[in-house]
Amino acid sequence: MSEHGKRDLVSIEDLSTAEILELFHHADEFRANLHAWSDLCRGAIMATLFFEPSTRTRLSFESSMLRLGGGVITAADEKSTSRAKGESLADTVRVVGGSYADILVVRHPEDGAARVAARYARVPVINGGDGAHEHPTQTLCDLYTLWQEKGRLEGLEVVLCGDLRYSRTIHSFCYALARFGANIVTMPYPGFELPEYVLQRLRRDYGVQAATASVGDLPGLAGSSNAAAYLTASKPHQLALFTKLTKVEVNRIDAIYMTRAQRERHEGQDTSNYPRLTRSTMGAAATKDARVMHPLPRVDEIDYDLDDDPRSIYFRQAELGVPMRMALMAYLLGKIQLRAERPKLLSVMPGLQSGIGLRCRNERCITNNEGVRYLQREFRLIDEVSPLVLSCCYCGREVEARFIGHSQSRIVYRHNAAEARRIKASNRVYFESEEQALAAGFTAHAS
Ligand code: CP
Repeated sequence: MSEHGKRDLVSIEDLSTAEILELFHHADEFRANLHAWSDLCRGAIMATLFFEPSTRTRLSFESSMLRLGGGVITAADEKSTSRAKGESLADTVRVVGGSYADILVVRHPEDGAARVAARYARVPVINGGDGAHEHPTQTLCDLYTLWQEKGRLEGLEVVLCGDLRYSRTIHSFCYALARFGANIVTMPYPGFELPEYVLQRLRRDYGVQAATASVGDLPGLAGSSNAAAYLTASKPHQLALFTKLTKVEVNRIDAIYMTRAQRERHEGQDTSNYPRLTRSTMGAAATKDARVMHPLPRVDEIDYDLDDDPRSIYFRQAELGVPMRMALMAYLLGKIQLRAERPKLLSVMPGLQSGIGLRCRNERCITNNEGVRYLQREFRLIDEVSPLVLSCCYCGREVEARFIGHSQSRIVYRHNAAEARRIKASNRVYFESEEQALAAGFTAHAS
């Protein structure tokens, strides 16, 4: 719940596992007859603010709202908006998410932008993809499709292939797979491995353990397979057993999730040997019952002659985006209710107002880009063991704080000093280093 008393979907963590399952059942109802719901959201207006290209996300949201009986206003190209004249995201959503629209869907190139939109708009905000951060509604569509195909998510063996570094769909999908108890096999193209901050979050929040994975011969993916890792959110009673394993043999694959190289988010890294899924890949014994998934758009990662293979479900993922997004919007607009409990730890949390000393280490974070003009950098404390770990309230990237200053006395202490522990939370200013504190005008405590 945000400060405006509304519900946003910025991260897949904003929905509990039980809520997601309940939304699947609502999506089933919508899907049974897409034409039967034109009174449900009559009178509601959705605005799509897309500052990056999109086909599926924007059009499926617009289709969903029209099928629910509502109206749509859209900014599909940033050049046609006042952003081209320098208007901030915060000002745009204040205006559009005021009297213009009842719900916003926002796509933006900077990590953490959706959280900014949620903070400044008075109406629910849905993240349609923010930089390399998250794409939670794609994950809802992916999970829903896989759940329909396999009848469950727990215990599935899901191979993630290609660009795992810059793909926001992968990041949201990983968090959700771990939460649902699916096992993840990562097969990144070299240089495009799952980022350390995603792995850290998987370890911290889901107790995910990593081992080397052996997936046998998957022709076309071989360039990636030597880096394969097996990630599993083991149940506590399995942990002791699992930590003894150094290699997991994966003989049955339930899904191969392929991604394109996100060229718009990296600086010309060589992708000439990028993996390519072919009929030959899908001839391997381990893939007999595997589903081929892709968030689309496809470039060259999946051969077109796999399209009519019954195991290929990438167009189904896009198709099910409509009933899934109908269910989500009907819920956020208060037109359907969920019985399930909300997540205990919503990702919208009050920032540490005095966290001004820290700077997010993610250069793509909105706090280091357009937000420099108007955002206060905010962090939440996620681990109080030594050293302190905080995460950026916008993009979620973690940072270690080794020094704590007093906002009144402007004296800075090592984080584990007795004086530091006595500073009230509201007076604390966190720093990564003493140099950072001195540069902010603080004086080092003479110990
Ligand atoms: N999967 C996805 O986000 O597609 P678009 O970029 O076309 O919206």
